[in-house]
Amino acid sequence: MDGAGEAQARAPQDRLAEMLAEDMAQVNALIRERMASRHAPRIPEVTAHLVEAGGKRLRPMLTLAAARMLGYAGQDHVKLAATVEFIHTATLLHDDVVDESQRRRGRPTANLLWDNKSSVLVGDYLFSRSFQLMVETGNLRVLDILANASATIAEGEVLQLTASQDLRTDEAVYLQVIRGKTAALFSAATEVGGVIAGAPEDQVRALFDYGDALGIAFQIVDDILDYGGQDAVIGKNTGDDFRERKLTLPVIKAVAKADAEEREFWVRVIEKGDQQDGDLARALSILSRHDAIAASRAEALAWSGRAKQAIFNLREHPLRAVLSELADFVVERVL
Ligand code: IPE
Ligand code: IPE
Ligand code: MG
Ligand code: MG
Repeated sequence: MDGAGEAQARAPQDRLAEMLAEDMAQVNALIRERMASRHAPRIPEVTAHLVEAGGKRLRPMLTLAAARMLGYAGQDHVKLAATVEFIHTATLLHDDVVDESQRRRGRPTANLLWDNKSSVLVGDYLFSRSFQLMVETGNLRVLDILANASATIAEGEVLQLTASQDLRTDEAVYLQVIRGKTAALFSAATEVGGVIAGAPEDQVRALFDYGDALGIAFQIVDDILDYGGQDAVIGKNTGDDFRERKLTLPVIKAVAKADAEEREFWVRVIEKGDQQDGDLARALSILSRHDAIAASRAEALAWSGRAKQAIFNLREHPLRAVLSELADFVVERVL
């Protein structure tokens, strides 16, 4: 295969990384600089553990891509991209405490290696660092967008608390949860890219819609992978959602089709939290019986289609083409 052919074969997120390599190098340098602390050594220990494990850096790339695609020639997109990744990293630290998770990015979680206190406080520190960074842009509109997104993420996580363990949770509530906890940051990431570039309102709106739909597709797939993925590939433990008694899309679909015996099972494992060896396997077989994974994937695909549709009318640009492919890819992804 020649060079161009190989490039085609690579995943869109890798191509995005190549196209944005110079900007991304600056974002990574800024992240390194700002994740440090002169006064509390625990901070760089925890942040380095998480940041050096990598992560796909999808959200900062979305900000950079949106800004570049709309012709931005300044430097503030780098700060905004780092802001977005800091917000993301802060939510991961908090999320792993809330979910009592033990693996993240192929490593033991910070809450496991240190403790919950460190994860919560270092998460707070990163949140605050993200606010400092975005303030440096002096752009009130991007501050508004990112502050709103931070509040919406927290709201989504809290809504999920009460939606968990409750078999009445339906697809509308699920959508509200994932739109909040995940899509809000995707849409803010793309929107601020357009805003900083001074794009016309309809284009900013298109970028927002793209991020929103992409984020929803991304989280549906994440929830599918929690039942069907491989730990070593996704870098997280599968079965976490089941153990945490979360009503994710595959389970909601299976519960809706449950017969009396299955319903009894769901009441026991999800509502009562009385889980025994073999229950996860039984859950998987019920999901498969009702085609719940395939039906969830079909919904992810529909959201991915909406994401592509949203940016279809933006002017042609190599980055737009890759963003479009990225929407396909998040449904196919295995990590
Ligand atoms: C994890 O996001 C949190 C979810 C919204 C599912 P990513 O899968 O983008 O995490 P990293 O940054 O690549 O580790
Ligand atoms: C991800 O939530 C969203 C946030 C981190 C705010 P999940 O709990 O579903 O994601 P993973 O599986 O831990 O990455
Ligand atoms: Mg989690
Ligand atoms: Mg969670």
